[in-house]
Amino acid sequence: MRAVVIEQYGVLPVVQEVPQPEPAPGGVVLKVEATGLCRSDWHGWMGHDPDIVLPHVPGHELAGTIAAVGPGVQGWQVGDRVTTPFICACGVCEQCREGNHQVCPNQLQPGFNYWGSFAEYVALPYASVNLVRLPLELDFDTAAGLGCRFATSFRAVRQVGRVAADENVVIFGCGGVGLSAVMIAAALGARVIAVDTNPEALKLARSYGAADTLQASLETVDEIRDLTGGGAHVTMDALGSNDIVQQALLALRPRGRHLQVGLLPSGVQLDVGRLIGQELQWLGSHGMPAHAYPEMLNLVATGNLKPADLITRTITLEQTPAALAALSTTTPAGVTIINP
Ligand SMILES: NC(=O)c1ccc[n+]([C@@H]2O[C@H](COP(=O)([O-])OP(=O)(O)OC[C@H]3O[C@@H](n4cnc5c(N)ncnc54)[C@H](O)[C@@H]3O)[C@@H](O)[C@H]2O)c1
Ligand SMILES: [Zn+2]
Ligand SMILES: [Zn+2]
Repeated sequence: MRAVVIEQYGVLPVVQEVPQPEPAPGGVVLKVEATGLCRSDWHGWMGHDPDIVLPHVPGHELAGTIAAVGPGVQGWQVGDRVTTPFICACGVCEQCREGNHQVCPNQLQPGFNYWGSFAEYVALPYASVNLVRLPLELDFDTAAGLGCRFATSFRAVRQVGRVAADENVVIFGCGGVGLSAVMIAAALGARVIAVDTNPEALKLARSYGAADTLQASLETVDEIRDLTGGGAHVTMDALGSNDIVQQALLALRPRGRHLQVGLLPSGVQLDVGRLIGQELQWLGSHGMPAHAYPEMLNLVATGNLKPADLITRTITLEQTPAALAALSTTTPAGVTIINP
């Protein structure tokens, strides 16, 4: 099969013929119909993820058709249309038994722990725990985003941030994660302020429900405090940037909640005194377990959430290495989907 192979960190990957994966016991192999280009793939390519072993195939935000079923898998057949949370959880550990699959210590992530979905086929472990059946009316391109960024933002905004109607919510960084968060928070009735450096991304944010958009600058915190009458209830770092974290914490009102979704490979300096004195909450959020998908899928089915609208570009496997490398300098507005 063809796959995008990283031979060295930070060096342009190449599309190569590699062996097709076999399903493990309890697992399946999918024919990848669509897979998203997420900034986490870029972090992996840059060498920010200690789990990756080279050579490596990235890709973790995916939807496809089951092509092979491993021994011991119940309820799934060749031809079924599915997606999966990128965090493939074991289903039997203490965290999984409590429903917290997103922090399963035995989790395996395609495109990080083993070869991922920038390929014609991808293997998925623990199929009965993680596979999510796609409604017939949900196309593969849209469903791919539900494997990582849209679902991650859904859990961050709804379950971790507990965003409520009429709250002021500021989303810093309006790429795949951030635009999803704008759409989800707006659908929950929040008053959303979107911040980005790219005017095109801000235009999209407005069309997905942002009440205000701000071109990122040194005045961003003051502008947010003015717009919100003293600070936001909730902020989200949807890029992964020390500067954004500092601005986000300053832009919160007392007892505000900060959602950290963007990865921070170089760490961050926190003003812990401010966290204590203002009773601010710093909330990490990681993916979303498969059992939480029905609520999100229902909101998609009823048209309250429209993840299809986030897709601005579809590319081929051959175009993927350049698109991945380009994330070092720019981010095209909206979500990019790869059709292998
Ligand atoms: N926690 C999780 O489970 C999880 C899941 C998915 C992605 N992530 C991480 O989330 C982050 C975002 O991923 P993505 O794919 O949406 O990224 P992206 O590249 O699509 O979007 C980033 C956005 O930030 C904007 N930006 C750049 N500099 C800015 C600045 N100074 N101020 C405001 N905006 C700025 C860019 O213009 C772009 O629109 C990444 O770190 C990714 O690894 C985490
Ligand atoms: Zn991702
Ligand atoms: Zn587990």
